[in-house]
Amino acid sequence: MRETVLVLDFGGQYNQLIARRVRDLAVYAEILPFDAPLERIREYNTIGIIFTGGPSSVTDDGAPMCDARLFDAGIPILGICYGSQLMGSVLGGSVKRANRREYGKTDIRYDTGCPLFEGLDENSVCWMSHTYYVDTPPEGFKISAVTDSCDVAAFYSIEKGLYGVQFHPEVVHTKFGNEILKNFLYNVCHARGGWTMENYAETAVAAIINRVGDGRVLLGLSGGVDSSVAAVLLDKAIGGNLTCIFVDHGLLRLDEAKQVEDVFSKAYDMKLICVDASERFISKLKGVNEPEKKRKIIGEEFIRVFEEEAGKLGKVDYLAQGTIYPDVIESGKGHAAVIKSHHNVGGLPDHVDFEEIIEPLRDLFKDEVRALGEAMGMPRHIVWRQPFPGPGLAIRIIGDVTRGKVDILQQADAIFRDEIAAANLDREIWQYFAVLTDSRSVGVMGDERTYDHTVALRAVTSVDGMTADWARIPYDVLEKVSSRIINEVRNVNRVVYDITSKPPATIEWE
Ligand code: XMP
Repeated sequence: MRETVLVLDFGGQYNQLIARRVRDLAVYAEILPFDAPLERIREYNTIGIIFTGGPSSVTDDGAPMCDARLFDAGIPILGICYGSQLMGSVLGGSVKRANRREYGKTDIRYDTGCPLFEGLDENSVCWMSHTYYVDTPPEGFKISAVTDSCDVAAFYSIEKGLYGVQFHPEVVHTKFGNEILKNFLYNVCHARGGWTMENYAETAVAAIINRVGDGRVLLGLSGGVDSSVAAVLLDKAIGGNLTCIFVDHGLLRLDEAKQVEDVFSKAYDMKLICVDASERFISKLKGVNEPEKKRKIIGEEFIRVFEEEAGKLGKVDYLAQGTIYPDVIESGKGHAAVIKSHHNVGGLPDHVDFEEIIEPLRDLFKDEVRALGEAMGMPRHIVWRQPFPGPGLAIRIIGDVTRGKVDILQQADAIFRDEIAAANLDREIWQYFAVLTDSRSVGVMGDERTYDHTVALRAVTSVDGMTADWARIPYDVLEKVSSRIINEVRNVNRVVYDITSKPPATIEWE
């Protein structure tokens, strides 16, 4: 069984980051809720456990608590922030509230005799964010780091395999954070390593062959990173037994449908059914202004077209989906409020005859999906494609959608993308696109008065799309984009740049 580090989520903001850091150090990690029972933890080949930080205090009534048997289970544990306070207090140490919150970069002194800090500089800098702290470590534990305001910045017991750190090694501001996590994995948990996307491709292909055998698999291909990588992985495993259906709803970016066909049908020689359903979508969307209604119509119509095409294939054994790990993490926290219905186009169809679902990317973070695509030699423009919403350009055309508006937007958007790539900004900016607003305004072109559309440019930097800042694109690049759009796209006489961050705005306009 694959060696695994389990990250128990106490509600800290860095829980996914911890799992990703561990995986970057070539050890597979999964996130489980903080109260996962020992039996569940034993279902994995668990070589180590990490407790995350969290917003609670261990002295609160009802503070999140792990299964207390974990401390005697013989599995090494690293407690971070709240996790270290929990370890300290459960095992008989004392936890106190500081007069002042300690926050930000902090000088720290490590005892490099502790296996966690082996090989580090004794004096360094770490990232702190806490009000409570372990005042006295439990009996039998040694102190292994101190800061000016924290006498127990880290404590440990080699015999018990238990380590607590008050600071956050997963945050880049902790200078030796990566080395500390690496020491935990390789010095303390004795990991073998080997979690790389090259290895993953090989084992995933073998696992698919093993599971699917001669069965037939159907995959909805959207052209996005996840479904594209899933398609190539499945193609490697089962070749001709894979059929992909690509529904072109006519709301993709300029030439995108053709690119999907070129790559998958021609370059990869897959069985690809391309359905041009643009007419259907445009007529369903006629006169519809309300954003959520547009999303709903597109989502439903998409499934309907997919079902019709799938129906022609008869029974298949598996329906494949490009689900990735962030979609399946069971978090220790409640769910955040739904701001927009992000139902991905292509949810589960009711009328497709299949036996089972197969999700070959279910274990992977987004950056791992990209790394897997690269490891399999996929074209860069697919692997590094920026996020694109399922409802496509329909939610970038404010108000009702018409074919004419789609044309205008496709052209303006293509110019923007061209110029961003020409300025070498495409890897820096997380997402960039044009929006067709529902404003018309007066302009003058030559000697003529015009009354035409306003195009808005949106470009943001972000890590995961949850928060975003507007990208500081150089003025000369913006100038070029604006003048090209005005000159080359008919019926547009004004271009504006969106300078709002998320929150309070969202990335998309609808
Ligand atoms: P917002 O607009 O909510 O977008 O700030 C955050 C990220 O999600 C993408 N997005 C969608 N993706 N289906 C998708 O698959 C959708 O309906 C959808 N709406 C927004 C958006 O492009 C951004 O990357």
